[in-house]
Amino acid sequence: MEKQQRVLTGITTSGVPHLGNLVGAVLPAIEASNLKYVSSFLFLADYHSLIKNTDSELTHSSSFEIAACWLACGLDPNKVIFYRQSDIPHIFELAWVLGCLASKGLLNRAHAYKAAISDNELNGSKDIDKGITMGLFNYPILMAADILMFNADLVPVGQDQKQHIEMARDIALKFNHHYGELLTLPEAQISEETGILPGIDGRKMSKSYQNTIPIFSDETLLEKTIMKIKTNSLQPGVPKDPADSIIFSIFKAISSEADIADFHKRYEDGISWGDAKKALFGNLNDFLLPFKAEYTKIIQDRSYVESILVDGSKKALEVSTPLIEKVRKSVGIKGF
Ligand code: TRP
Repeated sequence: MEKQQRVLTGITTSGVPHLGNLVGAVLPAIEASNLKYVSSFLFLADYHSLIKNTDSELTHSSSFEIAACWLACGLDPNKVIFYRQSDIPHIFELAWVLGCLASKGLLNRAHAYKAAISDNELNGSKDIDKGITMGLFNYPILMAADILMFNADLVPVGQDQKQHIEMARDIALKFNHHYGELLTLPEAQISEETGILPGIDGRKMSKSYQNTIPIFSDETLLEKTIMKIKTNSLQPGVPKDPADSIIFSIFKAISSEADIADFHKRYEDGISWGDAKKALFGNLNDFLLPFKAEYTKIIQDRSYVESILVDGSKKALEVSTPLIEKVRKSVGIKGF
């Protein structure tokens, strides 16, 4: 029998997911959680979100909206341990222990910290640490604690997070060296670049490029956004290359094989860009409708979302409690 694999990933609770997140992360993660040999841990990294903003209302509402989004997209709380980071105090306790092992030099090399420093240098600031909080600096330690607290084997993340998983491994190795083999060395599972959805300007769909397609908006806004997708200047009647079309790439990600083949044919026949956008809008609207309907239902029932997360945190605590007890003992924090 294959060994049960523990797969864990966190979602920083800022902003509501867009179409790129939906097809690139949310739906694949939900599908993976259905695999038999996988136990999935999925959590809202709500304390991580404080690094990015000090707006308490926003922290609270984002956290709720993201939880509702994952549930609306089909996350089954019976198959996945779905919880809030802030409900598991053991994570923060472990973060302190890990912080006492991690060298400052390791954290100096973190991409996010280095990028912040280089921004300050570029702006000619005298203080290269200007505006950089300890939250940003310690980010990789809290993330290591998120992962190591549950002895995760695999951590599916985007390429930008790979370094953080390597740091978690480094710190776990150091812990095991000093205190005995207690922590599992996690491995990153990097999502394929080929699966990345382009945004309306052709670059990777990302909130920071402001080129996203919303998933829970009304139809008018959806249509407006699609009408803004960049095209070339080929006239109606002139054959068009699907491989070189943002509209086609997005259509492909959300349509059936038959629809894709048909759309391909229409490109060869010289479909006009206006008609191509109309076809994309039709399919995308149909694709999103069931998620939207669920989302609308779920956000009206805050206590339902709360009860799922409370349940999830109970299950997560069953895993973290025995491990943190071992950690405490092994570092010498125990009763006399
Ligand atoms: N840093 C991750 C991101 O921005 C979110 C995250 C926090 C995470 N803790 C984690 C991901 C633990 C995986 C495992 O995407």
